[in-house]
Amino acid sequence: MNISIQKVSAENLKPKPDENNLGFGKYFSDHMFTMTYRDGAWQKGAIEPYGNFSINPASMVLHYGQAIFEGLKAYRGKDEQIYLFRPKDNLARFNRSAARMCMPEIDIDEVYAGIRQLLEIEQDWVPSAKGATLYIRPTMIATEPALGVRPAKEYIFFVILSPVGAYYPEGFNPVKIFVTDKYVRAVRGGVGEAKTAGNYAASIMAAIEAQAQGFTQVLWLDACDRKSIEEVGTMNIFFVINDELITPPLSGSILPGITRDSVLKIAREWGLNVVERNITIDEVIGASENGSLQEVFGAGTAAIISPVGSLYYKDQEIVVNGGKTGELSQKLFDDLQAIQFGYKDDVKGWVDVL
Ligand code: COI
Repeated sequence: MNISIQKVSAENLKPKPDENNLGFGKYFSDHMFTMTYRDGAWQKGAIEPYGNFSINPASMVLHYGQAIFEGLKAYRGKDEQIYLFRPKDNLARFNRSAARMCMPEIDIDEVYAGIRQLLEIEQDWVPSAKGATLYIRPTMIATEPALGVRPAKEYIFFVILSPVGAYYPEGFNPVKIFVTDKYVRAVRGGVGEAKTAGNYAASIMAAIEAQAQGFTQVLWLDACDRKSIEEVGTMNIFFVINDELITPPLSGSILPGITRDSVLKIAREWGLNVVERNITIDEVIGASENGSLQEVFGAGTAAIISPVGSLYYKDQEIVVNGGKTGELSQKLFDDLQAIQFGYKDDVKGWVDVL
């Protein structure tokens, strides 16, 4: 890809944050990748100093919410090399989100080449501390100034980089999840399966109410029956009941997670009994009562594998595996991280080296 590059001068580079205290998404690297869309085509991309955009107050994203994003990571792993995990799968999902939101698709190969060039320049931002990675956030927003409700004709696509630690303050430790039947995140036929900003905006009220009561996250139920389990907004959810690994199917209202897909493939390879099927909160409670609920965990790029220690539903606490990390959650976490950091042979073609 023919892109223009404007570098920050050495004396203006930002100081690097403490790698052992990164939190999530608080720091941003020195450069970003940008590309604009107008006259029906993507223009030449640019790598430029990280900085503010100047956009028109009538930019359509500010009014009607055409905004999509992705999340993937660069890992500093074996032999100090930098690894990327299924990057083109993230960009393919980005294009599916774009199609759903009537936004222009990107050329995956060209954009991937741009991201690699950006990472080459920002190599020093990929942390080495245990559990730390460089989070990559491709985003597209509608910038055309117009107030009619229709697809915009102008967009900015950009990629920013943020060195991150664990997404949840708990790190790789069991989280407490609040199951809400008061709010819903998405509905079939809506935009739940697109990684679009509005889905996250819609989740905030339930999240703050749950956090005020001491919970880490919210588990969403189906908008119609308010019983079938959907996802945790920042991760997909898995249950182990009677030695069966169960996750809700991609019904249209949940995010088709890359980590979700990786877990399914790894678990099937291990010969586990894996099913994508409808599972209700009542079934989980029943399994907890009869002792067949073995593990619950979430899976996502930011969350990696996140064990669930308890679920709280209608004044009832469902404690999972004595509140401890389950065997399978630990094994999947270890295996996935070994692949992502390049320590395990990549037999599936999931990993690219920078
Ligand atoms: C991710 O896992 O990358 C996400 O996008 C979740 C979140 C931080 C919004």
